[in-house]
Amino acid sequence: MSDTQMIPQIELYKLLRALSLAMDYNRSGLMRHHQRVALICSYLAEEIQLDPDLLPQLFCSAIIHDAGTSTFKEKADLERFETINPWRHCKRGHQLLSKMPILKPLAKVILYHHDRWDGQNQSGLSGSSIPLPSRIIFLADRVDVLAYQTGNILDYRQEIVDQINEQSGTMFDPELVHVFNKVSSKESLWLDLTSQFMDSQLGRRLHTCPVITSEKEIIGVSKIFADIIDSKSPFTYRHSRLVAETASLLAGQAGFTGRQQKRMYIAGLLHDLGKLSIPEEILEKPGRLNKQEYNVIKHHTYITHQILSMIDGFEVINQWAAYHHEKLNGEGYPFHLTGADLSVGSRIMAVADIFSALVEDRPYRKGLPRHRVEEIMNHMVATKSIDGEIVHILMDNYREAEILKEGMPVNWAN
Ligand SMILES: [Fe+2]
Ligand SMILES: [Fe+2]
Ligand SMILES: [Fe+2]
Repeated sequence: MSDTQMIPQIELYKLLRALSLAMDYNRSGLMRHHQRVALICSYLAEEIQLDPDLLPQLFCSAIIHDAGTSTFKEKADLERFETINPWRHCKRGHQLLSKMPILKPLAKVILYHHDRWDGQNQSGLSGSSIPLPSRIIFLADRVDVLAYQTGNILDYRQEIVDQINEQSGTMFDPELVHVFNKVSSKESLWLDLTSQFMDSQLGRRLHTCPVITSEKEIIGVSKIFADIIDSKSPFTYRHSRLVAETASLLAGQAGFTGRQQKRMYIAGLLHDLGKLSIPEEILEKPGRLNKQEYNVIKHHTYITHQILSMIDGFEVINQWAAYHHEKLNGEGYPFHLTGADLSVGSRIMAVADIFSALVEDRPYRKGLPRHRVEEIMNHMVATKSIDGEIVHILMDNYREAEILKEGMPVNWAN
């Protein structure tokens, strides 16, 4: 890969749409909640002829609106029509997105996306003082929660419409409910929501998001997703960042260029994206996983791979990120690649991931000291699981890697 090869510019909406798919997993599997909410928003926006300048903000916010939620438990709470304490995830989402200039306009929309029309909100807002995109997302979000039922959605759509109407002027903006009544008569809305063709439908409906992300912004967006992934469990706190920083340190020492190191950093931030699909009780289990639990864990790199493959220009990043549990001897997962298939970048990521996991505290043990890390890694080299040369580079730079663990920032990534 030549150094001049840049990550192509990507539309922000497309990047968020791919990455947010990982947030759409709950106990029942992939629910596509964010995509469905964005789709309902597009129907409402079309009907009210929303100012075209607000469309990118609406769609980008809708596709990531529950960024403040990462555990299955929190997601389950939000699946009740009348949620108990939605403010927490609104605030956390706002906090997270405010860190990134390109996502800052979305942060405000997300802060108010559960605000009731009649007030009683912790935000202090009510009625038309609540930003319009937030009001649209709130309505779309609650419609989607009601729409998760088995059977033909056209048979029960009237129940959904009735429930929304009962809350006109209390939970919801009455004018928006009026608009919803109009669009809800279209079978296509309901069929789009439940169709296997939803992806292409979304692509067609949400083509008005020309906000382009630069390389630096892609790193910023990836950092936010790293935080969402890591907040799933207190034991993985900063894991994605540590892997990213360790992997780019090793890449630099292995002769990668500055630009390649940045790609490695993005790959590290996103390597465990698929962990958002794994129940917390498995991630946090104190002790060894049984066979069934391990089989659940094995989904995560497959999901990372599938999601990153949706992003144009991420082909190399995807290989580096998603192959981190593959082994040179072909006994890794999920693709059972071998040394012949695994590039230096993928080998670096595997070593960075193992190093990070060993030095971090886990529910069943404290972070390990250097001599134990060395012992374990040497054994893995001997069994042809990981690359001895990369381990050598790590050992030569062990102090720097330890400093990263202690939270040293990587300058070019900020
Ligand atoms: Fe929400
Ligand atoms: Fe939601
Ligand atoms: Fe992993």
